Amino acid sequence: MELGNRNSERATTPALALSHGYDPAKANQIDTSPMTGDIRPVRIPEPERGVSIEAVPLKTIFLHVTKSCNLSCCYCYFSANKPLPDEMTRIEFGRVWEDIVTLKPQRVVFTGGEPLLRKDILQLLCDLRDADPHHHVLRCLNNNGYLVTPPLAEELVGLVDEVRVSLDALAERNDALRGKGSFDAAVRALDYLHAVGFEPKVLVTVTSMSIPDLREFLCLLIAKGITRMNLNHFRAIGCGAEHPEWAAATSDIDGAVQQAWEECYPRQPVPQEPDNPAVHINCGVGSFISIMPNGDVFPCHELMMPEFLCGNVRQQSLTEICRRHSLLDKLRGLDFHQLARQDKNLVSLTGPDMCLGSVFARTRSLPVWRETLALRHLQMD
Ligand SMILES: C[S@@+](CC[C@H](N)C(=O)[O-])C[C@H]1O[C@@H](n2cnc3c(N)ncnc32)[C@H](O)[C@@H]1O
Ligand code: SF4
Repeated sequence: MELGNRNSERATTPALALSHGYDPAKANQIDTSPMTGDIRPVRIPEPERGVSIEAVPLKTIFLHVTKSCNLSCCYCYFSANKPLPDEMTRIEFGRVWEDIVTLKPQRVVFTGGEPLLRKDILQLLCDLRDADPHHHVLRCLNNNGYLVTPPLAEELVGLVDEVRVSLDALAERNDALRGKGSFDAAVRALDYLHAVGFEPKVLVTVTSMSIPDLREFLCLLIAKGITRMNLNHFRAIGCGAEHPEWAAATSDIDGAVQQAWEECYPRQPVPQEPDNPAVHINCGVGSFISIMPNGDVFPCHELMMPEFLCGNVRQQSLTEICRRHSLLDKLRGLDFHQLARQDKNLVSLTGPDMCLGSVFARTRSLPVWRETLALRHLQMD
């Protein structure tokens, strides 16, 4: 099955990609993307030095093209609202495309804020497409559905491989979380995208508030012909920072998925995530990056503290930021089980829903971090 292709066949059963956290690496594990599989280091020629350097192999680049948003979801990790005063221009993004193509991540996810609020969003997508004539990198677009119209959906064909629309629950609960009218807007967008041949993916951010609806909601999506969904755990960051109680229990999510699947596909076993040994070592940190609208590069949405700033693409090339032996490479090499043996305060890193960001937020004063990562600006309490 191809992504976002007019002629692609619709799958008859959905690919439920269950992830733990707003995901990064894990959410895409059972995507039907043609580019999944091993990721390997990339050799980057550096003309001025006449040698090649090796770069950290990246799976996903999250490109936050704006902080501006037309919604105010109560849990937004980015606290999106107004654009930053110093967001990058199309010309500045232009300097990043070539590096991205050199680094060959599996995908670039255009996100925000609401990326469709950028007047030049189609040009940005076009520029990346033109910089990547052999289509090494999948172009994905996250959005909240509000700004998708039939003509825009048409324009996205050929520019975007995967369109992802966020929708969390049945109408009433969804709108309580994401804003009045957001359910209808997202459903409308899914219809427009289907009509032009996309197989849109629904991004479901699961909170404890959405659990009561989850089974029925998943059945509704399946009945609507949605074949691709990611279930992402809410993370208590940004607007949700003060609400750890909004986190849903994994067992509740698994239970709802199981029930929905049995109801919709009574004769088929629930699909399991394929086993990936890499995720047993750490949460995938170091194999994806988040680029902010002002060019700052962080390892992920949860590690947006000053000590984890990897660089800024206005001042440095992305290939330089992602080179071997960088902070990103150190993060990639972390073995959470080994860290837990070094310091018993880090035992939670070995749990099933392990995530460096949330554990680091609680334990940033431990000497083990300074020793292991040599963080430049580590603020000791
Ligand atoms: C930040 S939004 C940006 C793109 C677009 N505005 C949208 O809502 O799809 C990208 C995704 O992150 C999810 N998200 C936002 N805050 C989150 C949090 N605290 N924990 C987990 N996922 C979150 C959203 O629900 C959405 O699916
Ligand atoms: S989750 Fe998306 S739509 Fe909601 S406030 Fe954040 S950026 Fe806006």
